[in-house]
Amino acid sequence: VNHLLGIKYINKADIDLIFETADHFKEVINRPIKKVPSLRDVTIANIFFENSTRTRLSFELAQKRLSADVVSFSAAQSSVKKGETLIDTVNNILAMKVDMVVMRHSSPGAAYFLSQNVKASIINAGDGAHEHPTQALLDSFTIREKLGDVAGKKVVIVGDILHSRVALSNIYALQMQGAEVKVCGPNTLIPRYINELGISVEPNLRKALEWADVANMLRVQNERLDYSYFPSTREYVKQYGLDKQLLDSLNKEIVIMHPGPINRGVEITSDVADSGHSVILDQVENGVAIRMAVVYLLASKIK
Ligand code: CP
Repeated sequence: VNHLLGIKYINKADIDLIFETADHFKEVINRPIKKVPSLRDVTIANIFFENSTRTRLSFELAQKRLSADVVSFSAAQSSVKKGETLIDTVNNILAMKVDMVVMRHSSPGAAYFLSQNVKASIINAGDGAHEHPTQALLDSFTIREKLGDVAGKKVVIVGDILHSRVALSNIYALQMQGAEVKVCGPNTLIPRYINELGISVEPNLRKALEWADVANMLRVQNERLDYSYFPSTREYVKQYGLDKQLLDSLNKEIVIMHPGPINRGVEITSDVADSGHSVILDQVENGVAIRMAVVYLLASKIK
């Protein structure tokens, strides 16, 4: 397949190949000259129907460092606002001889739908509360970098699991690589699919952190929340917010991750986000190498 639609559609060998390729690109982007000519004849459109800082800029930088031609499209300033459909929009972009589309969309399944209806290689940059495959890849790559391997590591994903595409993609990726995974959060924010995936729920944050080698502190997705069943922010912070006092009281090595953007003072306090335990900016740095690897490997198949 010439797509990356979700971690569900790839396997451990694919992840290993992406990581080996990303190792090489990480070395490349730390050189004084960060650019390679690999994709000089490839044209890529990044189409974003939802807001993004990290993913969009990271894909753009990755593509530019591979020497691809890049155009970026924000739905808010496009003819989507005049009622054009997703397929018409993308087919018009493809008529301009575009080879690959990176898409973020608010609807789960949007990337898959596109892959079935247009002639281009599709990368899912987040589809609603479904999957965010490159985020999960950069998260696992960061764990591998910090702890040597993902296999056998204990990873707890904390917070708003229900609305999170990061959680589902991470669960698939971590299980595939042999990590032990738990989730922790208020039961109103734990989806029913968790049990079907064989993931256990630890409702107590302290116990979850005492168990874990890695804690991935998810953003509370205020834009997707129904406040009739969500605990108040104050209750959330009290039970699921990670502060320096709790972190220090664990008295152990633990890797603290967050996909961003952070609600400082909600899921984690600033002194935790900016502490030596935090690998948040390493995740962002690794995102460029991972996206270079994904784009390069898919583009190699279409050329
Ligand atoms: N982690 C992440 O997807 O961030 P953005 O929404 O800023 O792209």
